[in-house]
Amino acid sequence: MPVRVTSSGVVGIEAHRVDVEVDVAPGIFGYETVGLPDTAVRESKQRVKAAIRNAGFDFPQERVIVNLSPADVRKEGTAYDLPIALGILHASDQVPGVELDGVVVIGELSLSGEVRPVPGTLAMAMLARADGARRIVVPNANWVEAASAVGVLAQPASTLLEAVALLRGEVPERAPPDDTPLPEVDEARPDLRYVRGQRAGRRAIEIAAAGGHHLLLSGPPGVGKTMLARCLHGLLPDLDATEQLEVSRIYSVAGQLPRGRLVRRRPFRAPHHTASCAAIVGGGANVARPGEVSLAHAGVLVLDEFPEVDRSVREVLRQPLETGDVVVARATRTVRFPARFQLIATMNPCPCGWAGVPHAPKPCRCEPRAAERYSGRVSGPLRDRMDLQVTCVPVPAELIVGDGTEEPSSAVRARVQAARERQRVRYGPGPVRSNADLPIEALETVCGLDAVTRSVAQDAMERHGLSPRAFHRALRVARTIADLEDADSVARRHLAEALVFRGAA
Ligand SMILES: Nc1ncnc2c1ncn2[C@@H]1O[C@H](COP(=O)(O)OP(=O)(O)O)[C@@H](O)[C@H]1O
Ligand SMILES: [Mg+2]
Repeated sequence: MPVRVTSSGVVGIEAHRVDVEVDVAPGIFGYETVGLPDTAVRESKQRVKAAIRNAGFDFPQERVIVNLSPADVRKEGTAYDLPIALGILHASDQVPGVELDGVVVIGELSLSGEVRPVPGTLAMAMLARADGARRIVVPNANWVEAASAVGVLAQPASTLLEAVALLRGEVPERAPPDDTPLPEVDEARPDLRYVRGQRAGRRAIEIAAAGGHHLLLSGPPGVGKTMLARCLHGLLPDLDATEQLEVSRIYSVAGQLPRGRLVRRRPFRAPHHTASCAAIVGGGANVARPGEVSLAHAGVLVLDEFPEVDRSVREVLRQPLETGDVVVARATRTVRFPARFQLIATMNPCPCGWAGVPHAPKPCRCEPRAAERYSGRVSGPLRDRMDLQVTCVPVPAELIVGDGTEEPSSAVRARVQAARERQRVRYGPGPVRSNADLPIEALETVCGLDAVTRSVAQDAMERHGLSPRAFHRALRVARTIADLEDADSVARRHLAEALVFRGAA
């Protein structure tokens, strides 16, 4: 009789059920895997054989057929090693008393029979629960994430032998794993108290943090653009429980959960401007892995020196900026990853950095039109999506060397949290988390513009050639400015300030 072990695979961040059927029949020795296996799955034969022998069992000297179903879905990765090995042992009567009903099994095997971690365990555990499984046997290293899928018992196995013992009910139930948050790495977190001057930049960072808006900081070198950008993270609230699972699923698939624990802090990614398109957007030779835009989901993506970022990367960013997800095209299929991040970009006005800077200490040394070409690298459609655009100017020396104090991040953070709380109450649970997520349909009701404010808007569109998209984005920013003031509707001054940040007032 063939034996069936329920397992699971992931495509993107979605898990799907895979049944591993094993038949061991008398005949000439052979070992075959069918059901669209990829290279990693085909190679599992060698690992499974060695692991079975090294765990002290016999690899059956008969005809072994492993069928992975459904047959029309390509099977990727190494998570089927453990269920295949257990299926072979069971089908060859070497593990009497093993109970496979209502159990999902995943895990890679080493040649010596250790169970190695697999990406995507969190999504698989959530699927197991949704499918009504009672328990899921997972690699030890994936225990914490699996256990966070409440409603299904997650059991860790560190070796093939331990997995057998678990399925025989010989291992006493263990207390849930330790999931206490990791201590904050004590890296000196940049603080707004050290940023002198830059009134507009500071204000923009506060609004961006409060509403989740995209921000473009331009200006000459050394005026504090990077400093400001790095301060944003410290102003944001931690992820709520739903977001923790959402973000952790992505990190799980990327194999980047911090020491196997859930992600609690809002992601902050700052890839170098030389990063490749695949690193930013996602991709990979065999299995599609999320890129920086997805690792920044529900958090911040900082792209410093934005015009220096590869052109293909800049253009490909338009999609996630608009839709909140990204499609990674591969040879066999396309995979969609969430990518609702907040973009903070910085740029110089020209290659040398000093074009058009008032009271510049150095004159611009670039060729004529170089500045135009340089800033043109941030194309119209891309610039349209930058909700807040600020030009930072050099700070007077007396302000830098003076003993004055600036408002610390903690004070700004308190206002940001209050504004975020207003949004949370207004939007309730659901896809809209902050004003930046507001769909057009909801803008009218949520903003409640009066006639005067409408005429300001119309004037801005007509006189500054503001596109409808830019206008809607300005409205969302205005909503955030109103929230920072604890105001119920968007008044003229809120919209006016939002328009200033688009250079349209
Ligand atoms: N506004 C400012 N307030 C205090 N220090 C500043 C300011 N601007 C620049 N600095 C100093 O100069 C350094 C470089 O600033 P940075 O943010 O990297 O400039 P930019 O990104 O605009 O080129 C900072 O690390 C800090 O020491
Ligand atoms: Mg910089």
